[in-house]
Amino acid sequence: GAQNEQQLSKDCDELLSTLPKERGQRTPNLYFYQGFWCQPKEIQAIMSVQRNFIAQDSDIILATIPKSGTTWLKAISYAIVNRYNFPVQNDHPLLSSNPHELVPFLEYKLYADNNIPDFSTFPSPRLVATHVPFSALPESVKRSGCRVVYLARNPFDTFVSIWHYLGKLRPESLGPLPLEEAFDAYCRGVIGYGPYWDHLLGYWNESLEKTGKVLFLRYEEMKQDANAQLKRLAEFLGFPFSIEEEKGGLVENISNLCSFQTLKDLVVNKHGKGAIFADSENKDLFRKGKVGDWINYLTPVMAERLTNIMNEKLSGSNLSF
Ligand code: A3P
Repeated sequence: GAQNEQQLSKDCDELLSTLPKERGQRTPNLYFYQGFWCQPKEIQAIMSVQRNFIAQDSDIILATIPKSGTTWLKAISYAIVNRYNFPVQNDHPLLSSNPHELVPFLEYKLYADNNIPDFSTFPSPRLVATHVPFSALPESVKRSGCRVVYLARNPFDTFVSIWHYLGKLRPESLGPLPLEEAFDAYCRGVIGYGPYWDHLLGYWNESLEKTGKVLFLRYEEMKQDANAQLKRLAEFLGFPFSIEEEKGGLVENISNLCSFQTLKDLVVNKHGKGAIFADSENKDLFRKGKVGDWINYLTPVMAERLTNIMNEKLSGSNLSF
């Protein structure tokens, strides 16, 4: 059974046998756990997060579906909240560490492989990230005063980005990942932490109900006007820019420090490894960083299929792409 696939705890292994499953695109199977698709190792880590993570009021949780701009959001948030300890200058931590090392995922670095993290060495406020849907966040996150920032990206570009990324991560023995196969799974909602529409709606609805608790950002808006979105984010996080900081160009400096081109060209991101998982290469996190690249990959028929699905799933929500 799954025990041969991965080292899993007994209760996780028992649970797996009861869950719906589908063939995975880089690992053997994806399982439908608490309303979203994920891998056995991730389920085990998420169970541990749900049991063990105790949120503090000052915590900041960054939430995304994979490939919607997580790396960017981590960099910006880190630079904003740590700007008094780490002024934006040439020894800034973001110039020598990948953003995923500075802002770890709960379900990867922190609680993966039966690890229980030591938060005593974390700077305050604690900045952590997750890919789980809002409904699967630990109870203490929902109950405490901690803040949640969600970054959404249009589903077309997010698909193209994940397709490239899965192609990099999957074992060579499986051969290249056919675009049509990956797209069909995506349209059926079978994608890590998806269906994407449910992921979006969970955070979207919460951001409308609890405006001080969940901030809903969009990749495309950040691309269009990074400074405006940075200011919005800083205010939401309780670290608003002062007039002096704005006049001194700090907002632009942070957005330049965190830009696709700056991060992509750093030695740590060209040659570094293991920022998320042991076998991942940092350079794979920086592909094009553009809006609308999907047009080079999806046929009009494919685009229409996904448009129709998103329109149907998001209908009545005031959220659209
Ligand atoms: P593309 O594959 O479309 O280029 P994630 O960080 O969630 O894994 O998402 C990765 C996507 O964000 C990739 O998209 C990547 O190129 C892009 N990206 C990474 N860093 C970025 C940055 N600083 N600014 C804008 N986009 C960035």
